[in-house]
Amino acid sequence: MGKDKLKRFSQLKSFSNVIQPKINYSDKDHVVKGSWSNIFKNKNPIVLELGCGAGEYTIGLAKLFPNINFIGVDIKGARIWKGAKIALEENLNNVQFLRSKIDYIDKFFGENEIHEIWLTFSDPQPKKPRKRLTSSLFINRYCSFLKKNGVIHLKTDSDLLYHFTKEEIEQKKYITLKDIENINSYIDNEIDTLSEILKIRTFYEQKWIELGKSIKYLAFQPSQKDS
Ligand SMILES: C[S@@+](CC[C@H](N)C(=O)[O-])C[C@H]1O[C@@H](n2cnc3c(N)ncnc32)[C@H](O)[C@@H]1O
Repeated sequence: MGKDKLKRFSQLKSFSNVIQPKINYSDKDHVVKGSWSNIFKNKNPIVLELGCGAGEYTIGLAKLFPNINFIGVDIKGARIWKGAKIALEENLNNVQFLRSKIDYIDKFFGENEIHEIWLTFSDPQPKKPRKRLTSSLFINRYCSFLKKNGVIHLKTDSDLLYHFTKEEIEQKKYITLKDIENINSYIDNEIDTLSEILKIRTFYEQKWIELGKSIKYLAFQPSQKDS
């Protein structure tokens, strides 16, 4: 491992805005579960970014919405380090990072603790549909802590993940709130909050845009439609 990475891992342990359980923490509910309002020292709504990488959405949204709390979750310490450092330098008190596998996410959040979830450029897992972050396996985990009308946002370059998620929404009778096949035309034509939100670009998003890929966006509520 390079010297820089080792230095970052060591710094990460001292960052006040990073929670770093032991590797592959999965045995029992973690002490933070149900306690995030205490960690943020307020009762503002809490939004998660899962697979946050360097946390561009966590940081960007935290700046747009200072009265909402944001938590970026990723397993890669060197990536979280970047976002956590920016948040500390810019005094973003509404930002925390959690270093964990998303597979154990329900060990860290209590019932109704989370208002919204962002999935930003998640791996489409071409060969393992169950591992996709919008598979029912993961959505059921999110539902253990997402508020009743809580929203899941997906931003992706992947046609596979976009169409898979649309099929899941249809099959499970979730509620679609927004479906945009190419965010560029939305950003160019609409002057609203969503357009400001969609302008935030992540590291991977920038790479896909440079390769000429279109970026898709879905927002949905995993609560069932009343029939
Ligand atoms: C393609 S990158 C996207 C990163 C960032 N959202 C962006 O758009 O630049 C996917 C991220 O998800 C993280 N990731 C993938 N599977 C994960 C899992 N099961 N648990 C935690 N993090 C995961 C990876 O470490 C990586 O940082």
